[in-house]
Amino acid sequence: MNTPLTLPAPAKLNRMLHIVGRRDDGYHSLQTLFQFIDLCDHLTLTPRDNGAIQLTSEVSGVSHDDNLVVRAARLLQNHSGTPLGATLAIEKQLPMGGGLGGGSSNAATALVGLNHLWQLNLPLEELARLGLELGADVPVFIHGHSAWAEGVGEQLTKVMLDTPWFVVIHPGISVSTPGVFQDPQLTRDSRPITMARALQGGAPKWRNDCEAIVKERYPPIAEALDWLAQHAPSRLTGTGACLFAAFETQQAAQAIAQLAGQRWPTWVARGLNTSPLHDALGYL
Ligand code: C5P
Repeated sequence: MNTPLTLPAPAKLNRMLHIVGRRDDGYHSLQTLFQFIDLCDHLTLTPRDNGAIQLTSEVSGVSHDDNLVVRAARLLQNHSGTPLGATLAIEKQLPMGGGLGGGSSNAATALVGLNHLWQLNLPLEELARLGLELGADVPVFIHGHSAWAEGVGEQLTKVMLDTPWFVVIHPGISVSTPGVFQDPQLTRDSRPITMARALQGGAPKWRNDCEAIVKERYPPIAEALDWLAQHAPSRLTGTGACLFAAFETQQAAQAIAQLAGQRWPTWVARGLNTSPLHDALGYL
């Protein structure tokens, strides 16, 4: 039965991000706390009896074959040897180059969703190993739970985080992640911290090690971070461009979002400990 299945691909926030080293392959070893929020793209997956993989939605700036969703589907096909294919459609809400992990999350939803539809029954750990070939942030979206991450972001330990309401602001520009990671001013050999200290909130220098560089390279992000910091501690997610602050109540978040919304695209989103994707498929 080739019945379409629509699944969420949630955004993530990096509640903190500490860079601890640079590896020979150019990637950085880091420590981060990942949390999902209820701001999602949606993927509709329809299995096909022939092996074709077809993405029907256009995603600006990315060719069909380079789209992470198409690459994920082909990777899973090759890995499993399935003769099946799929038609894929993305309903996009998450900004590109925004630090919310949109592309990685889309790829993870394709892997987890097609594993289900193609009845491959591969364990999530195996899908996460495959996903790492597509990007350092893909494994956490397959893991599906708030996590303390080390390595390049793929060594994951499940944690329970508080679940505040977040104001998420997009300052209207996109950041080059490799550009930030390659900036000579990025501290690359700092000491690891313990998970326990990160979970306690840590010192300000552990908030997001990319923040100072990103503020310098992208003045509109500095402006938005400074504006939000007047209302609550503001942080960058990943290498940006999005930034966020946590609020105890939805009303408090909405009040700030209304002000921010006069200047920038802004969302109010709830922090989650389990991914809506995994909730939808009955994992965890
Ligand atoms: O893996 P992903 O495609 O998301 O990474 C984009 C770029 O970010 C990489 O090419 C690399 O330059 C940088 N990066 C890094 N260390 C990480 C994750 C990403 O240097 N842990």
